[in-house]
Amino acid sequence: MANYTDKVSIETAETSKISTVDFSNLDFGRVFTDHMFVCDYKDGKWQDPQIMPYQAMTFDPSARVFHYGQAVFEGMKAYKDKDGKIFLFRPKQNFDRINKSSERLAMPAFPENYFFEGLEALLKLDSEWIKPGVGNSLYLRPFVIATEPAISASPANMYRFMIICSPAQSYYNSAVRVLIADHYSRSANGGVGAAKAAGNYAAQFYPTSLAQEKGFQQVVWTDADTHTFLEEAGTMNVFFRVNDKLITAPTSDRILDGITRKSIIQIAEDLGITCEVRQVTVEEIKNAAKDGSLKEVFGAGTAAVISPISAFEHQGELFEISGTDAEDAYNKLFKKTLLNIQHNLSEDKHGWRHEV
Ligand code: COI
Repeated sequence: MANYTDKVSIETAETSKISTVDFSNLDFGRVFTDHMFVCDYKDGKWQDPQIMPYQAMTFDPSARVFHYGQAVFEGMKAYKDKDGKIFLFRPKQNFDRINKSSERLAMPAFPENYFFEGLEALLKLDSEWIKPGVGNSLYLRPFVIATEPAISASPANMYRFMIICSPAQSYYNSAVRVLIADHYSRSANGGVGAAKAAGNYAAQFYPTSLAQEKGFQQVVWTDADTHTFLEEAGTMNVFFRVNDKLITAPTSDRILDGITRKSIIQIAEDLGITCEVRQVTVEEIKNAAKDGSLKEVFGAGTAAVISPISAFEHQGELFEISGTDAEDAYNKLFKKTLLNIQHNLSEDKHGWRHEV
């Protein structure tokens, strides 16, 4: 049994880049903090957890990640309240999910004590990068890659776990327009759709770029067999409001078990809003759009938070969604409720906040 007792070693950056950053004008995921967390797996064991200045790294060209895509990641956020306290939102969920993703890609589980010790030490060191105020956060990107220099097609024996941090505001600046998939697929039964595998995202880039050429920011994926059932969008799970009821697809081995998604389902219950977790067909949503009962569609994800969807197209038929911007829109209510919990502005009755 491996013994994960190494202390996280810390090497601090000599100078900080923070004064060069315009925090009022951040493009998602382009600026990184002064430090990063690194831990290596070799000889059957995760070892040598360390925090070091953010820097480029060197890998052998034969590192398996470059050839077979053995790579998984997570998306999390840290928030700061007006008293300077730092919070994570349901971080154990991210920890569990990265290990579930790793298992699916035949990668070793990362130890819980290293995950939390590394993350918390990193946040304390880079705490100035977390700006208070609703709408500001520090996006955290834990990831694992196969580093073993060998190109036989089999799981690696060496890996690197890292966490990098990027100050963030909104992912989408306005409501998004989406195209519903009727040809390309994101995932298949028994595939890796439920894993946060890097390749799941790469595989979406081409169909998404075709959608973007037509003026849509995202694709909403449908089941690969029949393209009948609505599943998730590229960067978020999707909710439909039909009259006063919410509907979202159940998770499966094709759909990511989103933490924002499951929080919205719980918040709906708390607010007395019916949320049906069931299969939802493209036809049902098109019919609801035609008869006026489709009031809203929105996405939910860590980076995207709650992002309203203002229109969708399916096989050449375009539907504009009218209720997205209403004063009493659900997407606004859920976003506010969620952000208030995340920023320590309201009661945390489910124990979702984790103070660092
Ligand atoms: C997240 O919401 O954290 C994600 O991982 C989505 C990513 C494509 C930005």
